Amino acid sequence: MDKLTLIQPDDWHLHVRNGEMLKAVIAHTASQFARAIIMPNLKPPVTTVEQALNYRSDIVQALPNHTSFNPLMTLYLTDTTSKDDVKKAAVSEHIHAFKLYPAGATTNSDSGVSNPKAIYPILETMEQVDIPLLIHGEVTDNECDIFDREKIFVESSLNDIVQNFPNLRIVVEHVTTKEAVDFVLASPNKVAATITPQHLLFNRNAILAGGIRPHYYCLPIIKREHHRQALLKAATSGNPKFFLGTDSAPHLSGAKENSCGCAGCYSAYAALELYAEAFEQVNALDKLEGFASFFGADFYQLPRNTKTITLQKQNWTIPDNYIVDNETITPLKAGEVLNWKLIN
Ligand code: DOR
Ligand code: ZN
Repeated sequence: MDKLTLIQPDDWHLHVRNGEMLKAVIAHTASQFARAIIMPNLKPPVTTVEQALNYRSDIVQALPNHTSFNPLMTLYLTDTTSKDDVKKAAVSEHIHAFKLYPAGATTNSDSGVSNPKAIYPILETMEQVDIPLLIHGEVTDNECDIFDREKIFVESSLNDIVQNFPNLRIVVEHVTTKEAVDFVLASPNKVAATITPQHLLFNRNAILAGGIRPHYYCLPIIKREHHRQALLKAATSGNPKFFLGTDSAPHLSGAKENSCGCAGCYSAYAALELYAEAFEQVNALDKLEGFASFFGADFYQLPRNTKTITLQKQNWTIPDNYIVDNETITPLKAGEVLNWKLIN
């Protein structure tokens, strides 16, 4: 097979930042995807409908002319999110979910939730108005090994949330472990998960073997090979609980190549090509369209897209970097060859 035509996909987990960074990255996403769920972890975080609508206007403004890309906005849950905030979000046509960051779990999560149980009344309202909850599933306990943080979160918090809110739609974002995959498989259909390209393509050797490679450092951190195999199996299974969410998270190269580098992989420039490479590894290119173009839309109760895009078998070299203002972002697999190319 040397051409693959799909209904145009959507990205169900994306960071585009603001200012110059937004201007530098948004065209990449808009050239591949019809829509994307935009993460709210700006500084300060996007916590109200008004802020989200302003942020949405900035994104639309930054788009190249003649693109019909639709940013789907989310609100950042804090300890002080009110029931009123939830009700307002539910009636806004542009707000599609709330994001739960355990406080301190990742980039710009300081204002996140200190104790998930304490916000159960808010989750109850979300369940009533039927707006999805997106979860960064990691405990933040410093004593917990960083490679175990997702697994422990699943056992200690996620299970309880799923049990207590049987009608709340939940996305376990960027799953990275076999345990999280198994949990989603065993949960009711209202529990789904996104999977990133980096967690499908790499195991933790990519970060640590033969030198430290900061551009492979993201959170949740990339795990052992058997976890990657479990993720690949889930993504290519045709099970609609698993769908595409790149978690493309740009940082300036200097902020990553640093004595304390930031978490996040930049993949938006070739997201579909990266997924195609992963699916091809297990001879499952026929399963890419469901994962990339159908299951997320169905979960969010949005219409499926109707236009198509085509990937062609073609080698091309990923640039070493992309320019942002006077600085750069280093993409995932910088300088390496990809064997699929989006041609329209
Ligand atoms: O690696 C990550 N980067 N994980 C996250 O959860 C946040 C993201 C970011 O915003 O940079
Ligand atoms: Zn993210």
